[in-house]
Amino acid sequence: MSASVPSFVAPPAAPSAPAVVATYHLTKTYRTGFWLNQFVTSLKQCNLLVQPGETFGLLGPNGAGKTTLLKLLLGIVRPTSGRATLLGQPIGDRTVKHRIGYLPENPYFYDYLTGPELLSYTAGLFGLSAVQQRQRIAELLDIVGLDAKAIAKKPLKKYSKGMLQRVGLAQALINDPEVVFLDEPMSGLDPMGRFLVRDVILTLKQKGKTIFFNSHVLSDVETICDRVALLDQGELLCTGTLDELLGTSSRYQVSGRGGNLDVLGQWLPGLQFQQGLWHGTLNGEPYDFLSSLRGMGGTLVELKLARATLEDFFIEQIDQRRKT
Ligand SMILES: Nc1ncnc2c1ncn2[C@@H]1O[C@H](COP(=O)(O)OP(=O)(O)OP(=O)(O)O)[C@@H](O)[C@H]1O
Ligand SMILES: [Mg+2]
Repeated sequence: MSASVPSFVAPPAAPSAPAVVATYHLTKTYRTGFWLNQFVTSLKQCNLLVQPGETFGLLGPNGAGKTTLLKLLLGIVRPTSGRATLLGQPIGDRTVKHRIGYLPENPYFYDYLTGPELLSYTAGLFGLSAVQQRQRIAELLDIVGLDAKAIAKKPLKKYSKGMLQRVGLAQALINDPEVVFLDEPMSGLDPMGRFLVRDVILTLKQKGKTIFFNSHVLSDVETICDRVALLDQGELLCTGTLDELLGTSSRYQVSGRGGNLDVLGQWLPGLQFQQGLWHGTLNGEPYDFLSSLRGMGGTLVELKLARATLEDFFIEQIDQRRKT
């Protein structure tokens, strides 16, 4: 790990409540090339804990190893070394499968099935009765925004990418899982679709589900996740809450109109004017400033925490690593 990245990656301590995901020096090396004599280490010595009820976002540039980590946790590929547990059981253990949902990165479904047929097939694998299936499928189509009538006879090969992503999300939730793994759930979705997925994830979070997802849409990650990890070239650079990674700032960017400019200038050093509004930076908590502003008849237009975004953080960390 480079010296410039945060140093709060440590092997996880034994948790008090069983972690949903725990990895200990988890490593995956693929053999590649015609003679399988070349090696690519996609995940190196990964130590990670995800607790029940957490919404955990795994970030990293293309090829960082995010999908590899998900596949290891789901038992789709085997680790080269290290170990991990999922819901307290060693990864690959079949007894926890019915408690898990998974949306793969590039879902590949049988082209000639309709969406409801695919969902019915998946529901059958989880042992849902015909009555339960009908009810659950109708519920899920509604949740993911697919019109049951419009898709009733449409084979999946005629679905748009966004529709496939939605049906993929529905199949991941068919068994009402405790833990949901989503690999790029926003991929291929228009802004409305992204909003819908964000909403679905927030609803799952409210129900106390654990969500582990990869995404390149950092603004969404920032609004949804309790904790994130940053992975690059197979190495976990840092994990933490957004406050831990971006810092807790008690500085605010404030914009407004009206009020007494002399008084405002004392609150907001370096006050500026643009497009009919004043803009400034407030040091400290905003309560006293807001009552002072109200007292002088001013109007608040915007108040936001002045700190780096997750995107700034991501780019800075990866840039620094590339330079060292
Ligand atoms: N089956 C495989 N055989 C050989 N190499 C693989 C295999 N799967 C992944 N890799 C390699 O492992 C590295 C990590 O790939 P992975 O798909 O986990 O990245 P990712 O972070 O999910 O990327 P993206 O954001 O593009 O989805 C890449 O260099 C990739 O080429
Ligand atoms: Mg991937």
